[in-house]
Amino acid sequence: TRVLSVVGARPQFVKAFPVSRALRRRHEGVLVHTGQHYDEELSDVFFEELDIPEPDYNLGVGSAPHGEQTAAVMRRLDDVLDAEDPDVVLVYGDTNSTLAAALVAGKRDTALAHVEAGLRSGDRSMPEEVNRLLTDHVADHNYAPAEGAADQLRAEGVAGEVFVTGDVMYDAVLAARDRDFGGSTALDDHGVDPDEFVLATVHRAANTDDPERLASVLDGLAATDDPVVLPLHPRTENALDEYGLAERAAAELDLVDPLGYLDFLRLLSAARTVATDSGGVQKEAFYLDTPCVTLREETEWVETVDARWNTLVGADTAAIVDALDGERPRPEKPSLYGDGDAAGRIAEALDRVE
Ligand code: UD1
Ligand code: UDP
Repeated sequence: TRVLSVVGARPQFVKAFPVSRALRRRHEGVLVHTGQHYDEELSDVFFEELDIPEPDYNLGVGSAPHGEQTAAVMRRLDDVLDAEDPDVVLVYGDTNSTLAAALVAGKRDTALAHVEAGLRSGDRSMPEEVNRLLTDHVADHNYAPAEGAADQLRAEGVAGEVFVTGDVMYDAVLAARDRDFGGSTALDDHGVDPDEFVLATVHRAANTDDPERLASVLDGLAATDDPVVLPLHPRTENALDEYGLAERAAAELDLVDPLGYLDFLRLLSAARTVATDSGGVQKEAFYLDTPCVTLREETEWVETVDARWNTLVGADTAAIVDALDGERPRPEKPSLYGDGDAAGRIAEALDRVE
């Protein structure tokens, strides 16, 4: 099968790491980078350290408002599909790059397969929720990370086939852990000791686009007992500058540049707790036995909350401090998102796409 994969943002490079390896064993592949993320530390570093093949195309769309960014991917991808004529377009997750590629493939005689299908936060004001809903409904193959996501797809009556594959990010974490995080020296580099620091990430639009909410989150992080290492997403860095919060944040938190995947996971595996509004980091925390405090009101990864490894606290300062400084139960861990070979199952399912 001739599979054209589309990636564009940081979490998609991580997802493509196990999947592109599995695809190479069975299928002919073309890799398209939309250029949604373009900074070295949000893009190139992942291709280099994870041995992801060099993209065959970079659409160079860059940053823009939603409509413009989505449209730019659509226009440029149509030309690539004319030239490459794949059997199937494979998309990941819920970014604007995902939706743009889904809409283009959905209107052509090209099958569409979606990795990480069936996730819902229930919040339609979240851009990612719109992206994933529409992508699932236009896809021919939906690869769900867990039974709950598959049930959701069936309940919505999606037209395509539904497969439960497990989570490709679990495959990625296992591979990184087996490599001992590439010998990462991130703990020394950031001057922190295992179990004596909090790792934090903040980039969700709901948190960065509202100055009061962002200040409330940062105050919560700053008030915890332990040092906090916060690799800053450029979106958040821009927001801090714009709202005049940068100096205060830098005084109270250890603000660092975005990290490579192996360094990030090394810190995550050693942190006492992680505080995040990321989707992927919530699961990685679970896989690496680190309790997670989620800076949102809801999550797509409900199983981690049910298993009591993830606590939803929103943006309220006091709630964040309570969660970070309170008891951290370490309940027994069920297996939530497969057995670590989601990529293999996806590669097999792609044999059957029509
Ligand atoms: C995007 C995804 C989000 C995902 C996140 C992963 C959408 C709607 N959002 O959010 O689901 O969780 O990626 O990190 O697709 N910027 C840079 N350099 C870059 C890229 C972005 O400086 O390489 C800055 C620009 O100011 C840009 C802003 O970050 O305007 C936001 O980038 P964008 O790609 O629109 O969304 P993210 O917030 O990164
Ligand atoms: N990540 C990273 N360096 C960082 C922060 C995150 O490598 O400084 C990785 C993280 O391990 C996960 C992915 O980026 O695999 C998550 O991406 P992000 O939080 O940007 O997006 P989301 O998952 O929320 O869509």
